[in-house]
Amino acid sequence: MKIVLIGFMGCGKSTIGRLLADRLGLEFLDLDARILQESGNDSINDIFKRGGESAFRQAEKQAAAALALADDVVIASGGGSILDPENVRAFKDNSGLVIYLRIDFDTAVNRVQKSQDISQRPLFKDLENARILFEQRLALYESCADLVIDSSKSGPDVIADEIERKLREIAS
Ligand code: S3P
Repeated sequence: MKIVLIGFMGCGKSTIGRLLADRLGLEFLDLDARILQESGNDSINDIFKRGGESAFRQAEKQAAAALALADDVVIASGGGSILDPENVRAFKDNSGLVIYLRIDFDTAVNRVQKSQDISQRPLFKDLENARILFEQRLALYESCADLVIDSSKSGPDVIADEIERKLREIAS
């Protein structure tokens, strides 16, 4: 089984992904972590500073292609990875199930600000810019998703429960 979590920054892809992988006995893979590992950078911010967003998207594409070959995994993608249709294709290859963790913008802001992990989220430094990205991407997240889960109101455990329930429904 290959599950790929997509959604805007702060929707809980990594936290929920780790939890879900644990429960399902699958390996957890994180796209941003893989990008850092492969590029030898300490933070996503460094990649943006050195080569701009285009360098980051290139690194992201390579990492996505490599991770998407894995099986028996839950992959937490990066919020912008679905902008490239080839990444989406790679996520869906080999029966990959793409799950969109939907979140509203205000909750995303609260979560990202609380996590203070701005070094991994250079595109969230400017709130107005982040809002524009959010609005631009909404329809794309929906259209890529095999399954949509509302992640705004509940904590990671409840969301993981819901995903497990839906997976059982799909399997039956
Ligand atoms: C990005 C999201 C980030 C990271 C990078 C770009 C985006 O990942 O890949 O800062 O374009 O939305 P998270 O969604 O895990 O924060």
